Amino acid sequence: MTKLLNVQAVSASVPMVEKVVAEALDDVERRLAADGACDLATTIARDVPFRVMLRLLGLESAIDVDIDTLARWSDASLELFWGRPRGEREVALAREAAAFYSWLTDLVSQPAPEAGTLLGALGAHRLPDGEPLGVTQKAAVVYFMIIAGQMTTTQMLSTMYRRALREPGLWQRFAAEPATVAPWTEEVLRRDPPITTWRRVTGRPMTLSGVELPAGAPLLLMLSSTGSDTEVFENPEQLCPYRSNVRKHLSFGIGRHRCSGAELARMEADVVMRMTAARLPDLRLSDGTSPRMLALLSFRAPLQVLVERG
Ligand code: HEM
Repeated sequence: MTKLLNVQAVSASVPMVEKVVAEALDDVERRLAADGACDLATTIARDVPFRVMLRLLGLESAIDVDIDTLARWSDASLELFWGRPRGEREVALAREAAAFYSWLTDLVSQPAPEAGTLLGALGAHRLPDGEPLGVTQKAAVVYFMIIAGQMTTTQMLSTMYRRALREPGLWQRFAAEPATVAPWTEEVLRRDPPITTWRRVTGRPMTLSGVELPAGAPLLLMLSSTGSDTEVFENPEQLCPYRSNVRKHLSFGIGRHRCSGAELARMEADVVMRMTAARLPDLRLSDGTSPRMLALLSFRAPLQVLVERG
C-alpha cells in the first residue's frame, strides 16, 4: 500500500490534486464575492485533503455521505482519542466515531474497487498465512488512513496560510516564484508541526538521556521541540528556507513508522499554496482575527483563517 504513496506515485497524482484545488478555489472565490470574506480553514484547507484521500482510496464518486459529515466524524475521533472529553461530551464524541466506523465497515464489506487505489491494495493484501484482511482490519486501516491523511494536512495548510499571509511580501513571492513554497513549507513544518507530540512504547529496556526505562514504558515524544534543537538548526526561531538541512526536522516522525504520507502532504502544500497565491494575489487576513486554536495532546493548529481581498 505504501507504494501508492511513494515519490513516483505522488508525482503522478499532481494533475488530480491540481484539479481538486482549482475546484476548491472556485468555491473560495464564490464565497469572497458573496460575503466579502472566507474562512480558508473550513473550506479549501479542509476540503482538498479530504477529496484527495477519497480519490486515492478509490471512492471519489461512490460515497453516500458529504464532506461535512466526514469532517464531523474525523473531528470527533481526534478529540476522543487525543483530547480530554468527559461525561456527555465523551459520549457524544464516541457516538460520532462509532458512526464513522460503522459506515466504513459497510464500505469495506463491499467488493474492492479497482487496483491502483488504496482500497484496492487493501483488498488484494494477503497475510503471512495467505488469508485476506478481515472486515475489521480493513475498516481500522481506512479509519486511521482518512484521519492521518486529512486532519494533519488540513492543520498544516491552515497554519501555512496564516503564516504566509502575515509575512510581508511572501504571498506575492509565492505567486511570482512558486519554487519558494517547498522549502518554506519545511520551515513551517519544523516550527509549527501539526503533530506536536507522539506516543511510543519502548520495545526493550533502554537508557534515554541518562534515564533508565524498562520495556513497555509509555513515552510522549516532543516532536515540536526537536525543531528548536540548536545542535541541529542554527537560529532555530527564524524561518530560513535556505538552511542546508531544511528537511531534517522530525515533523513526520522517524524510523520504521515514519509517516507514509509525507510526500503526499508536501505535494499538497505546494499545489495549494502556489495555486492560491496565483489566483488570489490580493488575499489578506481579515483585520482583528485572533483564531481559536485546536489544542489537543498531539495536535495544534488554527481553527479559523478568515481572509478577504484587497
Ligand atoms: C502535514 C501532514 C502530516 C504530518 C505532519 C504527519 C505526521 C505523522 C507522524 C508524526 C506520524 C508518526 C510517525 C512515527 O511514529 O514515527 C505519522 C504516521 C503516519 N502517517 Fe502521517 N502526517 C501527515 C500526513 C499524512 C498523510 C497525507 C497520510 C496518508 C495519506 C499519512 C499517513 C500516515 C500513516 C499511514 C502513518 C502511520 C505509519 C506507520 O505507523 O507505519 N500522513 N504521520
